[in-house]
Amino acid sequence: MEFNVKSGLPEKQRTACIIVGIYENQVLSDAAKRIDSVSKNYLSTILQRGDLTGKLGQTLLLHNVPNVTANRVLLVGCGTDINNSQYCKIITSAVKSLNNTGIAEAVCYLTDLDVSEHDIAWKIRQAVEITQATTYVFDQFKTKPDKPNLQKIVFSASSQRDVAKKAYLEAQKIANGVKLTKDLGNLPSNVCTPSYLADQAKDLAKAHSKLTCKVLDKAAIKKVGMNTLLAVAQGSNETPKLITLEYKNGGKKAPIVLVGKGVTFDSGGISIKPSKAMDEMKYDMCGAASILGTMSVLAELELSINVVAIIPSVENMPSGTAIKPGDIVTSLSGQTVEILNTDAEGRLILCDALTYAERYKPEVVIDVATLTGACVVALGSHAIGLLGNDDTLIQDLLKAGESSGDRAWQLPLWDEYQQYIDSPFADMANIGNREAGTITAACFLSRFTEKYQWAHLDIAGTAWITGKNKGATGRPVALLIQYLLNKCS
Ligand code: BES
Ligand code: MN
Ligand code: ZN
Repeated sequence: MEFNVKSGLPEKQRTACIIVGIYENQVLSDAAKRIDSVSKNYLSTILQRGDLTGKLGQTLLLHNVPNVTANRVLLVGCGTDINNSQYCKIITSAVKSLNNTGIAEAVCYLTDLDVSEHDIAWKIRQAVEITQATTYVFDQFKTKPDKPNLQKIVFSASSQRDVAKKAYLEAQKIANGVKLTKDLGNLPSNVCTPSYLADQAKDLAKAHSKLTCKVLDKAAIKKVGMNTLLAVAQGSNETPKLITLEYKNGGKKAPIVLVGKGVTFDSGGISIKPSKAMDEMKYDMCGAASILGTMSVLAELELSINVVAIIPSVENMPSGTAIKPGDIVTSLSGQTVEILNTDAEGRLILCDALTYAERYKPEVVIDVATLTGACVVALGSHAIGLLGNDDTLIQDLLKAGESSGDRAWQLPLWDEYQQYIDSPFADMANIGNREAGTITAACFLSRFTEKYQWAHLDIAGTAWITGKNKGATGRPVALLIQYLLNKCS
């Protein structure tokens, strides 16, 4: 998809389609008013027939509107006062309805609508990201992929052209990172293995001079002493990898460390999962994918900052060599873990990666993981679960989520929950009872993050959608990039 911004009168656009807003009760937006007046009330006449009231998300496509240079005019219902999420709905419905036509190129005036508390930069950025998301297809494995019609959208910025231009260039880079994350997530686990993720990280480092990649193989991981990571990997024929990708553009500043769960398939291991929807456990590396996407955006935006990505990657399988419930393993931190459930594997690879993060003397550490089914139950597919040991970091992440539209919600990490993971035989167990599963998982991680400021994003409910539109969402790349952009400003 190609994007641009321009200022110019709607009636004068030589394009396949212009897109204008209609508010509730058929109140015309500024662009719609111009079209109505040059076309001698053509729009108001049509609206009087009642085909579009202006309700949020309605659309109506008109052809050959008199005295308008564009071939078509798409009317989009805007409701009354437009807030954050209503704006996103308006853009989504506009793009969806274009998708069902033969339109290759359009000029969109919805970016000129007033949205409470948001400027043109925000409106352009959201519009670009939403358009990219709405037109995304994953057809690498289709022998006869459908050709999409829509190729280009130009967004109107009636004022502040320079600001708008900067916003669309930035947004396009972010959208590309989101796409990389989705593509990696959607790949099946017979393609996307730990070695494949490592190769992707190496490719990113080859493409950007400020990125360097180092991959530890099984022998090197063993030498470091990451035994809980190796314990998860030992049931699989896929060899584990510890991937690090460093972005250096911030002088002597302490780095921000991002850790992503990279389980390329989570069968549950000996504590095997039920077969229903087990295919979706190919998405158990979406944390890793979001970190790779974020690193690629960072390199494209050339932010003045130091960031280190650490990605522990394994496959979790049952076999004669797999870990068994009751096994006890010594983590890199020296703490021992009784593995009561081999399906609670994410925390076992993350805990060693989080200990490994100490050697970078980080300013903060943020981990991203499809960690608990309980998070899906608690927050559904809208909010990311957020826990951590530092209130400033938590607030910064909540704020970045709000403004990027990639929202998180904090859950408590109180000491009272720590006792759930007591073990009679080791320093801790890897599961609690059925209560508060997202929190007890974070409690487990908290025991490996005491030396720095840390936050944990549980993306189990938000990393992909299920059902007939099954697919990765690319979350939380937008949140992480917003957090990093805020750090630099
Ligand atoms: N990858 C899963 C979490 C998950 C499940 C994400 C479903 C999205 C949808 C994780 O490794 C897991 O299996 N967690 C267990 C933990 C339990 C055994 C304490 C879970 O949530 O059931
Ligand atoms: Mn699991
Ligand atoms: Zn898992």
